[in-house]
Amino acid sequence: MSPKSSAAAVTPNDLAAYWMPFTANRAFKRAPRMVVGAKDMHYITSDGRKVIDAAAGMWCSNAGHNRDPITAAIARQAATLDYAPPFQFGHAQAFELATRIAALAPEGLDHVFFCNSGSEAADTALKIALGYHHARGEGGRTRLIGRERGYHGVGFGGTAVGGIVNNRKVFGNLLAGVDHLPTTYNREQQAVTKGEPEWGAHLADELERMVGIHGATTIAAVIVEPMAGSTGVLPAPKGYLPRLRAICDKHGILLIFDEVITGFGRLGFGFAAERYGVVPDMITFAKGVTNGAVPMGGVIVRDAIHDAFMTGPEHVVELFHGYTYSAHPLACAAGLATLDIYREEGLFERARALEPVLADAVMTLKGAPNVVDIRTIGLTAALDLAPRGGGAGLRGTDALNSSFHEHDIMLRAVGDTLALTPPLIVSESQIGEIVDKVGKVIRAVA
Ligand SMILES: Cc1ncc(COP(=O)(O)O)c(C=O)c1O
Repeated sequence: MSPKSSAAAVTPNDLAAYWMPFTANRAFKRAPRMVVGAKDMHYITSDGRKVIDAAAGMWCSNAGHNRDPITAAIARQAATLDYAPPFQFGHAQAFELATRIAALAPEGLDHVFFCNSGSEAADTALKIALGYHHARGEGGRTRLIGRERGYHGVGFGGTAVGGIVNNRKVFGNLLAGVDHLPTTYNREQQAVTKGEPEWGAHLADELERMVGIHGATTIAAVIVEPMAGSTGVLPAPKGYLPRLRAICDKHGILLIFDEVITGFGRLGFGFAAERYGVVPDMITFAKGVTNGAVPMGGVIVRDAIHDAFMTGPEHVVELFHGYTYSAHPLACAAGLATLDIYREEGLFERARALEPVLADAVMTLKGAPNVVDIRTIGLTAALDLAPRGGGAGLRGTDALNSSFHEHDIMLRAVGDTLALTPPLIVSESQIGEIVDKVGKVIRAVA
């Protein structure tokens, strides 16, 4: 078979071949939102504008963009050890990064399994949960429980425990034996709340109902995001996570926190587990671990789970799972440099200190046209806009275009919800600038 064209014959700037992920491709290609560079709090667009990043890329770049120590570490690593096979061979940075990540995690979660994304992290955690119960002679525990409106990436496991209908409905049966807790969001009870809503802890008790239906001995694990980000920023209600922990403990069910977004400072701590004083059995992470500079994800595992696999003959693989790019040297180098910046610049503490500043600023948009709810948590806020008559998501799309093309701000639009999740280096005056621009965008799409 001959190629369709020689490289020299390819049309420059042709947008057709790239099928973009989670993007309205045809609309995008009619009015592309293109970036060509980034530094600290800003992106540079293809037409040379400086756009303030109110999204940390996509919840990734917590230390801001193109940070010199990270780019230098990646360059050094690429020139020294470009790739190392992660099965049966090791390299020092992988062990060092695992140790550093485990040190940030709660007491007793001391083992880290690396992969390349949040989706792989979710699927890895679910498989470890099944393998753990099997190793202990409780192989009947196969049921996995997620939550309505949850997002755990796009693998079949993560999609199955996820609870966002558009992500699921055309993909068949997904995994068998999956249930979903109810969403913790109820606008009537919670509208316009700073931080964790007062209402909703009782929704954790739905897990007891599932135990009542299926029997505890069939349930392997529950996976939840401490703050459901991708669906539009839904903070856990006060007391919800401790209650879930208590019910899991009572019935021998593993509790997995998906901290792909909440890890590495978004809620003012290394992990949200610390904010809530709740220790899960596993934590999934990705995004902020490398500041988004190189893909990486992973699962932090409680010692007892890890140790349950470390039995049998020593020459035999304990967990038949892993990826060609697990603990990739470039990702490990980026991760180590990123963790140094988080520590040296005190970025988690900074996020905690700025939480009320962002919350107060965003609350000034209460009463702006079509704003029907505002939620804030950590260095994150979301505004729900009333949908346009023409259909859900239209106003959000208009806001996305207006923000990028006319107001020089990058934010995340999820349906008609606008999410603000700036890098943790954001200044107080930049918070003011972001909120001012968002106000203008909201008025522009009224
Ligand atoms: C909580 C959570 N889990 C998993 C994922 C999937 O991560 P990735 O896109 O890296 O596969 C995301 C992505 O936003 C997420 O927010």
